[in-house]
Amino acid sequence: MDREVGTRGSALGDVERIYRAWGRHPHLYAAQDLLTFLGRHRTIRRAAARALHVTRGARVLEVACGTGRNFPYVQEQIGADGRLVGLDYSHEMLGAARSLVADRRWRNVCLLAGDAAELDVGSGHFDAVLCVLGMSAMPRHVAALRRCRDVLRPGGYLSVCDAQLFSGRLSKLNPLVRDLYVPTTGWDPHRDLVRDVEQVFGSVQVERFNAGSFFVASAQKREVESDRVQQGVMPQTLDSTIPPDGQQ
Ligand SMILES: C[S@@+](CC[C@H](N)C(=O)[O-])C[C@H]1O[C@@H](n2cnc3c(N)ncnc32)[C@H](O)[C@@H]1O
Repeated sequence: MDREVGTRGSALGDVERIYRAWGRHPHLYAAQDLLTFLGRHRTIRRAAARALHVTRGARVLEVACGTGRNFPYVQEQIGADGRLVGLDYSHEMLGAARSLVADRRWRNVCLLAGDAAELDVGSGHFDAVLCVLGMSAMPRHVAALRRCRDVLRPGGYLSVCDAQLFSGRLSKLNPLVRDLYVPTTGWDPHRDLVRDVEQVFGSVQVERFNAGSFFVASAQKREVESDRVQQGVMPQTLDSTIPPDGQQ
């Protein structure tokens, strides 16, 4: 069973409505990747996972994990000894993620339902936090970024991958891009996510793709925040949602 964390805000109703439909049609969601990433979904998703700067055995949280499209790339980085926690607000998107986890027989993945802005999974617990196409679609994304920072251990990395409007000659396409994605994904193309990550973390490194319409922004949690860290093992509340070997 997924655990419910956090509370609901007003705009979360839109998230629920939009992603109920996508979560019920995960193959359609997977197909739209081709268009969204202009055919470079593997390259860009893998770049986002590499920007986590983790090694085998790491504990990674994916915020707004959706149907689990990034899980294979995170697994490449952390291996079977690592731990991957996926959080999403939409039960339907999580349902699709759960099927993927079962199909791939991953025993190191735990799924949680909740609002990223109310994330409460233990301070300093994770080696890295990933968010792909989530920060541009969620209400209260700056609060979510702060929560991501809080759950990271000092020295751990946040990797945010998202889309933005074209600039230069391709900006002619922007009205079409807006009409296609704003109503169907809840995308807010006017957020300056790179700036927001920089403000919350104090610095940011950016890699750009697809004529600047995609970016991976990575930021490291400063070591100086170490006094807020709780060292220790994975909290029981998380571990308990991972099925024992042989059960899925
Ligand atoms: C465009 S999808 C991206 C899914 C996945 N990260 C990917 O790369 O395919 C946006 C996701 O953000 C989730 N989401 C939106 N607001 C959220 C919130 N406040 N807390 C957690 N998840 C949220 C939606 O339910 C949806 O699954």
